[in-house]
Amino acid sequence: MGDSWVRVLALIFLGAAMCALAQPRGRILGGSVAQAHARPYMASVQVNGSHMCGGFLIAEQWVLSAAHCWDNTTDMQVLLGAHSLSLPESSKRLYNVLRAVPHPGSKPDTIDHDLLLLQLSEKAELGPAVQILAWQHEDLDVKGGTLCDVAGWGVDSYTGHRPDLLKNLTVPVMDRATCNLRIYHDGTITDSMMCTESHYRRDSCTGDSGGPLVCGGVAEAVVTSGSRVCGNRKKPSIFTRVAPYQKWIMLETNDTISHQSNLSNKAL
Ligand SMILES: *[C@@H]1O[C@H](CO)[C@@H](O)[C@H](O)[C@H]1NC(C)=O
Ligand SMILES: *[C@@H]1O[C@H](CO)[C@@H](O)[C@H](O)[C@H]1NC(C)=O
Ligand SMILES: *[C@@H]1O[C@H](CO)[C@@H](O)[C@H](O)[C@H]1NC(C)=O
Repeated sequence: MGDSWVRVLALIFLGAAMCALAQPRGRILGGSVAQAHARPYMASVQVNGSHMCGGFLIAEQWVLSAAHCWDNTTDMQVLLGAHSLSLPESSKRLYNVLRAVPHPGSKPDTIDHDLLLLQLSEKAELGPAVQILAWQHEDLDVKGGTLCDVAGWGVDSYTGHRPDLLKNLTVPVMDRATCNLRIYHDGTITDSMMCTESHYRRDSCTGDSGGPLVCGGVAEAVVTSGSRVCGNRKKPSIFTRVAPYQKWIMLETNDTISHQSNLSNKAL
């Protein structure tokens, strides 16, 4: 009798230990399925026909994503106008990438300067489901507590499940000083980065990288792609702010954007 109780207790402890091992790598955790095509700037950056990262349209022929999403071994493609990754949708179109420009300061083993510009093989066909997102040019920090929107087709559960429909999540900004506290990211968050609070079952994760953090309708930052534990409130999500990179973005995308502004100047 005593013996079997020991066995039952041992099994319970073993079960608890396995749960503890399997759970902590959380994942957009706890988001909801987005309203279809309500985020017409969202791009799915793909490799070999599979979703790899998020991204967003910043000019007719340019998508901004994260440097670590760049795969230099094979051609990348960009899907625009999508809600479902797999179902046919009349607004969906897959574009080839003409040029991939990872930020020259990005490195495989750090999350510094984690930005990637992708020039599409042709101008995107704009419409209700495909639109350019304005990005922040003014280098000012977003206040802690501001609610922002993040969306993606990234892993959405602890089992590693990848959703077919775009999901979104509202997240509060965590000010940099707090994010740099020892209990969080311990001084590693630079002026070019920002954080959002991360909660158990409410967080951005693998596959969401490259997507925009949208505050007040403007892209403030890009979900970083460095490896990190998701869904752990002690590890707030880290984003690369776009305003500090304004010069680089403008320089690299110059042809398209200056052409557009020339046109609009002429129109005036
Ligand atoms: C894509 O396919 C190529 C060729 O089959 C392969 O070498 C590469 O590892 C694949 N990349 C990914 C990310 O699956
Ligand atoms: C791809 O990048 C890796 C790591 O940065 C590098 O070692 C490799 O030589 C690159 N391959 C090609 C084909 O450029
Ligand atoms: C998703 O976005 C909608 C607005 O488009 C918002 O009402 C909803 O709360 C968001 N979902 C989550 C889980 O934050």
